Amino acid sequence: MEIIWYHPSQDAGVWLEGMQRRLPQARVRHWQPGDEAAADYAIVRKPPRELLAGRPGLRGVFAMGAGVDDILAQLARYPDMLSPSVPLVRLEDTGMGRQMQEYAVYCVLGWYRRFDDYRQLQQQAQWQPLELAAYEAFTVGVMGAGVLGMSVIHALKPWGFPLRVWSRSPKQIAGVTSFAGREALDAFLHGTQVVINLLPSTPETTDLFDARTLSQLPQGACLLNMARGTQVVEDDLLAALESGQLRAAALDVFQQEPLPPHHPLWRHPRVTVTPHIAALTRVDEAIEAIARAIEACEAGRQPSGCVDRLRGY
Ligand code: NAP
Ligand code: GLV
Repeated sequence: MEIIWYHPSQDAGVWLEGMQRRLPQARVRHWQPGDEAAADYAIVRKPPRELLAGRPGLRGVFAMGAGVDDILAQLARYPDMLSPSVPLVRLEDTGMGRQMQEYAVYCVLGWYRRFDDYRQLQQQAQWQPLELAAYEAFTVGVMGAGVLGMSVIHALKPWGFPLRVWSRSPKQIAGVTSFAGREALDAFLHGTQVVINLLPSTPETTDLFDARTLSQLPQGACLLNMARGTQVVEDDLLAALESGQLRAAALDVFQQEPLPPHHPLWRHPRVTVTPHIAALTRVDEAIEAIARAIEACEAGRQPSGCVDRLRGY
């Protein structure tokens, strides 16, 4: 069994050694431009066209992340790059759920307890206790009820805030109000004090957070984006922060990454910036998941985590 591995920036060593150890019967190699030798499986991030195109023996492609927008974008440009019959498999959780929980709980509690306001007061040496909202008036809305959205919902439950979720299909989650589809988006946004975005990047979610969407939130709402920068119109976000429509934003992902040094989001007093680290791929867990998925393919079974390419996630 031949496995090729490619990542545009990560060190290959730990992945190649780990995969080789886990699947000793396979030959795992670091794909380099010009390598046209046969491959049964490919483990990739942002694959160049020539990595996948013209490989008739390929039986599975594995993303090294939860999102597959990088691969689907290449497929949109080069539809012949990968036959529709080859499964495209993404990572499901593999340690990312817990990281998303940590980030979300940190932000929600910080905004609830108004630590962002206290940070500003401290800069002015002002000793000023602020009012605290009632728990029941501090509604948290999670956009995306998939692997990571559900994980965040579970972490928030013990804190007692009203919880709601927005997804494509309706959900039944104890103690959580479900809103489904575009027609329910405004109802979801009305009354949501903290919006947590965990939607996949698809044509439907591109630029979703524009001036209109942000205006549907109650004044002084907060936004946490841990999904993709493509989903936020950054000029509209800055305008909403300036007008006070939004009180704060915590942003892990951006239209352009790395965020350019002179971008106004870096220095906005109401914005927290992190460098796309909300949930990092845990290599050991990812290797185990991919190895199991390869074993499923070898046994003629459909692996868990198969992407529906038409749906986009
Ligand atoms: P997932 O399991 O595929 O869940 C996607 C959820 O989004 C589903 O609940 C789906 O609804 C919903 N959804 C999709 N399109 C929608 C639409 N047009 N309208 C409403 N709801 C829609 O994905 P996941 O594993 O939770 O990951 C979510 C995203 O997180 C990834 O795609 C990736 O971009 C991002 N991510 C970011 C980082 C980071 O470090 N910043 C790390 C990992 C992942 P249904 O349930 O009805 O299908
Ligand atoms: C990271 O952004 C991922 O999609 O896993």
